[in-house]
Amino acid sequence: MKILVTGGLGFIGSHTVVELQEKGFEVVIVDDLSNSTIEVMEGITAITGKRPIFEKLDLKEKDKVEDFFRRHKDIVGVIHFAASKAVGESVEKPLLYYENNINTLVYMLKSVLNLDASNFIFSSSCTVYGQADTMPITESAPIKPAESPYGNTKQIGEEIIQDTCKVYSEFKAIALRYFNPIGAHPSANIGELPIGVPQNLVPFITQTAAGIRQQLSVFGNDYPTPDGTCIRDYIHVVDLAKAHVVALQRLLENKNTSNFEVFNLGTGKGSSVLEAIEAFEKVSGEKLNYTFAPRRPGDVIQAYADTSKANEVLGWKAKSTLDDAMLSAWNWEKKVSNI
Ligand code: WQD
Repeated sequence: MKILVTGGLGFIGSHTVVELQEKGFEVVIVDDLSNSTIEVMEGITAITGKRPIFEKLDLKEKDKVEDFFRRHKDIVGVIHFAASKAVGESVEKPLLYYENNINTLVYMLKSVLNLDASNFIFSSSCTVYGQADTMPITESAPIKPAESPYGNTKQIGEEIIQDTCKVYSEFKAIALRYFNPIGAHPSANIGELPIGVPQNLVPFITQTAAGIRQQLSVFGNDYPTPDGTCIRDYIHVVDLAKAHVVALQRLLENKNTSNFEVFNLGTGKGSSVLEAIEAFEKVSGEKLNYTFAPRRPGDVIQAYADTSKANEVLGWKAKSTLDDAMLSAWNWEKKVSNI
């Protein structure tokens, strides 16, 4: 069965392509290469021995999206990762985010509805919850006003899909709300490839240990948490990728109980920034150079998932620990930095 993965050369996309291929799916990747490189194709192929079909495609170009689907009528499922995802950048360039994350979703959905089988997995985010009132966060936690245009595009994206599902009963969709994806494939053939200065914690940690960055700034140690630093749910990217395959199979096998479902994807465990640093130092044997800095605007104090719905309904559970994820991130950094 042929599956389309948009943004399939990106961090989570590439790991999901590997898991799909290992489950026997034929994969078509479209990517505009704005935040990824074609070399990722070699990494995927080195792991699975199967080269995915690749087409460079900017999903903002409506006619080209329609043409793509005319040429691939045998697609039975879509996993839609393609989007801009830097929270800070979205504050500075909101219209770029609304165009690249919303227009493209509408063009995708219009084409998917013309397929014989419309099974759609949407890459969403725990940012839709904002600062949730209670921990751990369940799927029924209230959706708070978005703290950034990026988070708003995920909220709007879910609403667009939900409205589409209401009208087209044969269209089935699952939104997966990621917590904090980290780490890399254990083969170190694929991993996170941040462009420029990393915004996210773990690539900044590994680049600091690799000597690429001088020092890690811990954004705030005066939060109302046990050690004063923010708490997050760090989930291994391979666990996250496997969840996408399980969700897709749920739709392909018509096991969904409604045609729009939502699942939180995390480990269920919260870790502070200092605990993440300690885990890295333990598994790498490296002493990390860091200092405390002012809080980063927009950061929530804590966010970690209640994973019972994904565990019980989806039949999926994260298996890797924070240590496993940190070690895989470090092994990948050493590979890409030639250490
Ligand atoms: C984690 C913690 C920072 C960098 C991200 C995505 C978001 C969503 C969830 C996908 C925070 C601290 C960071 C640094 C630091 N993913 N930090 N120094 O902000 O939780 O959200 O994952 O949808 O879109 O942005 O992740 O890794 O940026 O920050 O102290 O140099 O690490 O303050 O407490 P975040 P992050």
